Amino acid sequence: MSRRNPSRRRARVRSPGDAAHVLTTYPLPPAARAALGTMRLATHRGPQPMPAAALARAVGRIDALLCQLTDRVDAALLARAPRLRVVANCAVGYDNVDLAAAAAHGVVVTNTPDVLTETSADLAFALILAAARRVCEGDRLVRAGRWRGWSPDLLLGRDVHGATLGIVGLGRIGAAVARRARGFGMRVLYHQRHPARRPPAGALRVSLTRLLATADVVSLHVPLTAATRHLIGARELAHMRRDAILVNTSRGAVVDEAALARALARGRLAAAGLDVFGREPHVSRALRALPNVVLTPHVASATTATRARMAVVAARNAAAVLARRRPPNPVPLPAPIG
Ligand code: DGY
Repeated sequence: MSRRNPSRRRARVRSPGDAAHVLTTYPLPPAARAALGTMRLATHRGPQPMPAAALARAVGRIDALLCQLTDRVDAALLARAPRLRVVANCAVGYDNVDLAAAAAHGVVVTNTPDVLTETSADLAFALILAAARRVCEGDRLVRAGRWRGWSPDLLLGRDVHGATLGIVGLGRIGAAVARRARGFGMRVLYHQRHPARRPPAGALRVSLTRLLATADVVSLHVPLTAATRHLIGARELAHMRRDAILVNTSRGAVVDEAALARALARGRLAAAGLDVFGREPHVSRALRALPNVVLTPHVASATTATRARMAVVAARNAAAVLARRRPPNPVPLPAPIG
């Protein structure tokens, strides 16, 4: 049996990141803590999200921040963080981080793509099915004890199989939704500025107007940027078929929620499935009052395995930057001005 030599352990070469101070705004699973090696880790264990004031107080002492989409990393926060070298966002989206300010402060920003693709696509498809087949309305009816028995016209919904799916933004998650749609015999249209490099077989690129006018189900998968804020507003909703379903698992502000609520209330649209909202956790009374909207609390990537994988990826990204290596998932930053 071989015995470990304690002197060898003592002689372990220290990497440049070993003495770094890392703050994580959420508790890390063991594998993610392990990815940070011997770095000094402070963990916010209080209410989620970490209060902005507490983050602002802590950020002056740290070299790396592991944060979530609920943590605002803006110019004011970065100005208080002279030692900060990396913001490792534990999400694929990073609209919570001011990229221009990060570039100006020389801070690397990273995200967690790939590991959440299939999980997020599962939820998008769950919303498609739930909205089309009125799953939540049925659940509410049964729970309330109001179900009077089988009836030929009870909760008639829409067929998903064979329908046309319009995907806005054929990135990783959009493409994963398209793969699921093929299993349902759906025709797939997609819209994005540039043709996808490897579009799923049979997926057809069309203009946004054509997609909205044609699709039975429209599923949104674009990041939130200045160009995509309210991408789907009153005008776009008016282009959609009256019997169509809108599903949003991207970011709430991609849709004008007030316009959507009005369209649904007036029968301009059959149903919607929403996992994301413009001012989370606030969801408008108008949306909550509508029976034909399925609402979930931003849980597209929320499985135990995927959240653990995301945390490991975030930790690896931070560790790489602190060790002066290129992180696996850098977010492209704008060139600093001046
Ligand atoms: C992300 O990673 O951006 C998702 O919204 C998390 O569920």
